[in-house]
Formats: sequence, C-alpha cells, structure tokens
Amino acid sequence: MTPAAGQEHRTLILTGSPRKKGHTASMTDYLAQRLTGQTEILSLDDRRDIRPCRDCRYCFTHGECCIKDAMEEICQKLEQADRIVFAAPVYFYNIPGSMKSVLDRLQVYWAAVLRGDKKEPVKKGGLLLAGGAPEFPEQFTGSIQTLKCMLDDLGAVCEEPVTMGGTDKKGLSERPDVQARLKRLADRLNA
Ligand SMILES: Cc1cc2nc3c(=O)[nH]c(=O)nc-3n(C[C@H](O)[C@H](O)[C@H](O)COP(=O)(O)O)c2cc1C
Repeated sequence: MTPAAGQEHRTLILTGSPRKKGHTASMTDYLAQRLTGQTEILSLDDRRDIRPCRDCRYCFTHGECCIKDAMEEICQKLEQADRIVFAAPVYFYNIPGSMKSVLDRLQVYWAAVLRGDKKEPVKKGGLLLAGGAPEFPEQFTGSIQTLKCMLDDLGAVCEEPVTMGGTDKKGLSERPDVQARLKRLADRLNA
C-alpha cells in the first residue's frame, strides 16, 4: 500500500519481550530510528487486557471478533498501518506465549478466507527475532512460520526476516552484520 500523495508511511511494530531493554528492544529501536513516516511501538507482553481466542467461530461469518477488549484498538492500528513489523525473542523455537495469546486473536483476519472477503496483500511486513543460543539453521524457523502466516493474514508481504542468534554472549552493538540487515530492512520498508 503506497500512501496517497503527501501522506507518510505508518509503521506499527508489535513487540513480545518482557525485557524492556533486552535484545528485541535494541533491534526494534535500531530499526525504528531508521524508518521514515510515523512509527509506533506497542508491547504485546503480558497483556491482561486482551483475552485469548476461544475458537468460537463468530469470525467465520462476521468480519469482527465477538470479544470486545483492548484488541479492538490494536486491530484498528493494524488496519491503519501500511508497514507491520513483529519483533520477538525465541522461546522454545517460537514466540513467547503471552505474545502468541494476543496474536491468536488475529484469527478474524485468517477467517477472511472462509468468509470470502480476503484482500490482496498491499502492505509490507518485517520480522525481528532474537535467540540466545549460538546460531544454527532451525533456530528461528518456528517463529518465522508463525509470524509470516500472521503477516499474510494482515495483507502484508514479509521482507527478509532479521534474526540475531547468540544473544547469551553478544548484543546488537557487537553485531555489525545484524545492524547491516536492519538497515536494509529499513530501506525496504521506507521504499
Ligand atoms: C522460556 C525461554 C525459552 C527460550 N528458548 C530459546 C530457544 O528455543 N532458542 C534460543 O535460541 N533461545 C531461547 N531462549 C533465549 C532467548 O531467546 C534470548 O535470551 C533472547 O535474547 C531474549 O530476548 P530479549 O532480550 O529481547 O528478551 C529462551 C529464553 C526463555 C526465557
């Protein structure tokens, strides 16, 4: 989705780490500082104001969730954004449970397939992932699969995910390779 003339990109970054100054946060800040337009960073950690999906199937026939809580505001922000980024640590090969619980509420967007009102993807998406273990091939596969599927449901095409393994030993300031990939992602999202 290219903004209309005179309008700026609107990026929503949804983060999932309980550590406010952790590795996910440093990757998020590094990217956000390089994005043009409006950028909002929103934490999905420990959101007790958002109830979990109950698979009630209301959204199979209605274009909304029947649970009325703080998720409504997040959905509104997701719909207004033309750039969506998920940023999360890896917990046992996937995203943290508290973030997953919130993102399961995106079922209403997935159900567009059943309702027959799925739209063409017009947005751009990004993924930032931090993992403590030394880097190995399948370290981020589970998280990427989950979050890519969610970006697709939101109508966003996923750019190359930026992953940073080995965070038990090194952070972003010691990882020029990750910094370079974050800069490339910013360029792609700004285009
Ligand atoms: C419950 C739990 C499970 C974890 N599972 C993995 C894992 O499967 N693979 C991995 O590389 N790191 C794993 N880690 C380490 C985190 O991914 C790592 O500490 C990461 O940098 C945390 O990001 P943060 O600093 O943004 O919170 C796990 C950490 C916790 C607390």
